[in-house]
Amino acid sequence: MDQKIIKEGLTYKDVLLVPQRSAIPTRKLIDVSSNLTRGIKLKIPIVSANMDTVTEYEMAIAMARMGGIGVIHRFMTIEQEAEEVSKVKRSESYRIDTPYSILPDKTLGEAREIMRRNGVSGLLVVDESGKLEGILTRRDEIYEHDEFKLVRELMTPKERLIVAYENIELQEAKKILAKHRIEKLPLVNEGGSLVGLITSKDIIKTMEFPNATKDERGRLRVVAAIGTKEDALERAQALEEAGADALVIDIAHGHSEMVINTLELLKNYNIKIPVIAGNVATPEAARDLIAAGADAIKVGVGPGSTCITRLIAGVGVPQFTAVLECAREAEKYGIPVIADGGVAFSGDIAKAIGAGASTVMLGSLLGGTDESPGITLTKKGRKYKVSRGMASLGANINRNSNKDTENSDYVAEGVEAMVPYRGSVAEILNQLVGGLKSGMSYSNAMSVPEMWKNAKFCKITDSGWAESKPHDVEVI
Ligand code: XMP
Repeated sequence: MDQKIIKEGLTYKDVLLVPQRSAIPTRKLIDVSSNLTRGIKLKIPIVSANMDTVTEYEMAIAMARMGGIGVIHRFMTIEQEAEEVSKVKRSESYRIDTPYSILPDKTLGEAREIMRRNGVSGLLVVDESGKLEGILTRRDEIYEHDEFKLVRELMTPKERLIVAYENIELQEAKKILAKHRIEKLPLVNEGGSLVGLITSKDIIKTMEFPNATKDERGRLRVVAAIGTKEDALERAQALEEAGADALVIDIAHGHSEMVINTLELLKNYNIKIPVIAGNVATPEAARDLIAAGADAIKVGVGPGSTCITRLIAGVGVPQFTAVLECAREAEKYGIPVIADGGVAFSGDIAKAIGAGASTVMLGSLLGGTDESPGITLTKKGRKYKVSRGMASLGANINRNSNKDTENSDYVAEGVEAMVPYRGSVAEILNQLVGGLKSGMSYSNAMSVPEMWKNAKFCKITDSGWAESKPHDVEVI
């Protein structure tokens, strides 16, 4: 069969990529870079899900460093979500535009609290008018026990500081940092006001993560989710202001007028960053959201590992078919598709890309990593983390715990589950990308567009799937 024509609904487990004659000598040569939206390119086509057990700032940082991207979930206040975005944007860049600062008359206790809250190891000291007065680094405060001591008594004053002017080139800044063996180089304007900061830590990180997903100012990229309720516009504006690179309008049934209206509202109110919309599972839905201005389409109704929509509502389209059909439609408009949910193996990523997706979104596969929110549990000697559907009862109770709402009519469409602890995001992404490259090599595809073109599938039976897994042996 040389055509990917599938009439019934198929999942990833119902199909296999058919090996093609391949001219690829080694999978090291394969380029897996792909577009999240037309303007945002990723070195690896993997996105972490906007779930409260998957993506907050630590996951988003880890994903972007590796060349993917994370979508911060929306189940927190607008201020909290904007703060999560801002932590990612500040985590590394060639240059921090608004470094954390403190007034000289504040106490050491207050300074330590700001540093702890924001995860930084130093503060610039500025006066009321923004003029640089000095710097308070770990070296200045680590041995001090008196929390009431004033910052001005502990800081390294400006007279002893090496500073640079605001428009310094990165190479020049590197030289100054190396020559003076300093960690931080504050940037000032001609009037002496603080306008930025360059740190050696950030320069080292840039070299450490060559594939990192960065914006034009060298900051890690991050996406943030919004809903369609009253606060959608206010949330979108706050997230854009905090530096989000794109937004995801994420509701369970994305083929809805609420999503279309929200897309139009955001465009009317001049939200300039790309807006990804979903979740959908049909080509008609993809077309409608693209017509309303969506910059990428998120596909997946019911495939998620913690999702029971198909059981509770009887609704969904098996994910392979949904991705195939939506991607075919979106391709006509040059709009990328994100295959969201149902990825259990690296081979599923190869299948999703082969079906036409530009990227895949992962929930529970990343939920067991060090960087996902939540603690690690040990049960019968094995380590786990909790992953829960955003429509699960627990997630709903959590969202409404500070509101006086009646939850008795709530019907859960997700479950809470334990997922095996899987170490760091970097380790799992390396495995997943290795598997994807392997799938691409079997398909004679050197790049994602070649994979779209070359991938061919065969539909398999239950026994085909049984044969695909280890069988007739006892796995050790
Ligand atoms: P995986 O399979 O990677 O899927 O864990 C992640 C995706 O699952 C979706 N999701 C849900 N779907 N009820 C649903 O119907 C839920 O409670 C739920 N929680 C998450 C979501 O699209 C996510 O990215």
